[in-house]
Amino acid sequence: QTTLRGAADAIGKDIGVAVDANRLQSNAQYRDIVASEFNSLTAENAMKWDATEPSDGNYTFSQADSIVDFAEDNNQTVHGHTFVWHQQTPSWVQSLNATSMRTAMVDHINTVANRYEGRVDSWDVVNEVVSDNNGAMRDSFWLRTMGEGYITTAFQTARAADPNADLYINDYSIDGINAKSDTVYRIAQGLKSQNILDGVGFQAHLILGQVPSTMEANLQRFVDLGLKVRITELDIRINLPADSAELQQQANDYQRVVEICAELADCSGVTVWGLRDADSWVPGTFPGTGAPLLYADDYSKKPAYTAVLNAL
Ligand code: XIL
Repeated sequence: QTTLRGAADAIGKDIGVAVDANRLQSNAQYRDIVASEFNSLTAENAMKWDATEPSDGNYTFSQADSIVDFAEDNNQTVHGHTFVWHQQTPSWVQSLNATSMRTAMVDHINTVANRYEGRVDSWDVVNEVVSDNNGAMRDSFWLRTMGEGYITTAFQTARAADPNADLYINDYSIDGINAKSDTVYRIAQGLKSQNILDGVGFQAHLILGQVPSTMEANLQRFVDLGLKVRITELDIRINLPADSAELQQQANDYQRVVEICAELADCSGVTVWGLRDADSWVPGTFPGTGAPLLYADDYSKKPAYTAVLNAL
């Protein structure tokens, strides 16, 4: 195979990329690579609550629509991201009382899921609901206002709104076996037993040289629950400037992660969190680090690209 897409198609996996609607529209090189190298898209921001319902009942879908249209034009699946998160959710939601917040959540999920029914294949229904502190639940406005039941409400609503979409719980730092992934495991067991969960998304915002040694075993334990798994936001950051040895280490790390998914029948695919290094959220969030993706700023393929191609 000569493209990531061709290689992924051949083994029945998604190889996805998080995209920005403005770049897709304005930049032909970006657009052409997204279309030719990937068989799945995720909106990096355009399907988040602040983008889709900035004020109560006022829905704005132009950017999300353009991404879904692009995917359809190019025979790509869409992994939707995300309904319920503590970030990028407007303040009008955050200040509601329990009854009104529940109503807002149900209305939001129904409206977005129904709009894309049959066109978005899977959803991150809840994102980052577990804290980094010993696997405790995240102390978010959702938890404080609605109690832990907000997670069940979100999944029940999404299931009813689009019964054919695969529903995922998604989080970071759950790639290996640890207290946080143990908590996600317990939540997943409960949701799966109610038939309202299909998969677990492992964001995999990784640090160079730190693919968890327990990653394969961790994904396997979720598969053993009868769930799909997916690498949803893969990037591997390097302390800048990146030298050639580091870019080779990065290629090895990418290869390992993609091999884990390729070898697991119930791993639906791998999505990288952006196309070029210049497009990545990493330098802005983890200062001094960057170069985390498969393409350099000039759209040339990095060693990590070849490693992913080989792993598929
Ligand atoms: C990030 C986007 O990449 C940025 O453009 C945005 O400014 C902030 O959000 N976990 C997630 C993603 O689930 O939605 C985040 O995306 C990265 C961390």
